[in-house]
Amino acid sequence: MIVLGIETTCDETAVAIVTPGEEGGGRILANEILSQIAEHAAYGGVVPEIAARAHVEVLDRLIARALDRAGLTLTQMDGIAVAAGPGLIGGVLIGLVTAKTLSLVTRKPLLAVNHLEAHALTARLTDGVAFPYLLLLASGGHTQLVAVKGVGDYVRLGTTIDDAIGEAFDKVAKLLGLGYPGGPEVERVAETGDPERFALPRPMLGRREANFSLSGLKTALRIEAERIAPLTQADIADLCASFQAAVVDVVVDRLRVAMRDFAGIAGHPTALVAAGGVAANGAIRRALAAEAGQAGLAFVAPPLALCGDNGAMIAWAGIERLRLGLIDDLTAPARARWSFAEPAAAMA
Ligand code: KG4
Ligand code: ZN
Repeated sequence: MIVLGIETTCDETAVAIVTPGEEGGGRILANEILSQIAEHAAYGGVVPEIAARAHVEVLDRLIARALDRAGLTLTQMDGIAVAAGPGLIGGVLIGLVTAKTLSLVTRKPLLAVNHLEAHALTARLTDGVAFPYLLLLASGGHTQLVAVKGVGDYVRLGTTIDDAIGEAFDKVAKLLGLGYPGGPEVERVAETGDPERFALPRPMLGRREANFSLSGLKTALRIEAERIAPLTQADIADLCASFQAAVVDVVVDRLRVAMRDFAGIAGHPTALVAAGGVAANGAIRRALAAEAGQAGLAFVAPPLALCGDNGAMIAWAGIERLRLGLIDDLTAPARARWSFAEPAAAMA
């Protein structure tokens, strides 16, 4: 089984070819990615119109290049997978129409994949993790703790009530005059900073549900920054370090709640899994690994290249769905919003 995967939901145009490998995981035969970061950097964020146009310009070439790298032709694919949302609708439409066209021409099954589900299943591609597992999915648009019970069987244990974690990193970076995307910049600058200089709040700490809130933390940081302005390099480093430390504390606390809730919903998890762009953050990874260790769980985080948006995760989710016969037809819609995990029923 060989599946082509297309990802165009945000600012990355990505195409990959994946096949099942040994030990339950997958083998990546090609993984092409073109980031538009340079095109959006001047605006300090992704501009949907620019993103959509950039996808159109490079997608065909990227598909050709992926096939070339894998030494395969389109007719050798067993399925055409595409992220049909959630995301910026212009980009989603371009990926979806392209995939439908390829599916129609080659008569291979179309697999309209949820981008978040693809992030959620990446640990099975890289490490063959068995169900059920506890997932922290944290990206620029999403922050969720999820019980992953099976393909298409996801229970949301918690989510953010305002900003996503990656979004908070991006906003803090913008506020402090750092580059875009903000996460890697804040992490880099935080390395030389003092995480204890600013006593920033830890929103939601101790709350019963595994939800997050980050906008208050971001506001507290802005107030501190304004109070001591003008900022030196050392101030910026201390602000970044203090912010990151607060995020880590919040993540750990929320994770503990989710671990407890998981037991009542899905039994004993096989692993703690991190996914999404924020999973690239070293401080967060180390904290998650430590928590997993204490709970006697394996900790699995995809390699950095597979944490952010990529085509391999789309192709893999396509394989998982194709195996179960979950095929889509040409009426599959493009969805700007598309939740993949049902919220857990109110727990006593
Ligand atoms: O999953 P992703 O590539 O795209 C989506 O949002 O779907 O995630 C991108 C997000 C951005 O907000 C970025 O700032 C954040 O992930 N990010 C990080 C780091 N690397 C990327 N956040 C914190 N630390 C990082 N090292
Ligand atoms: Zn993503």
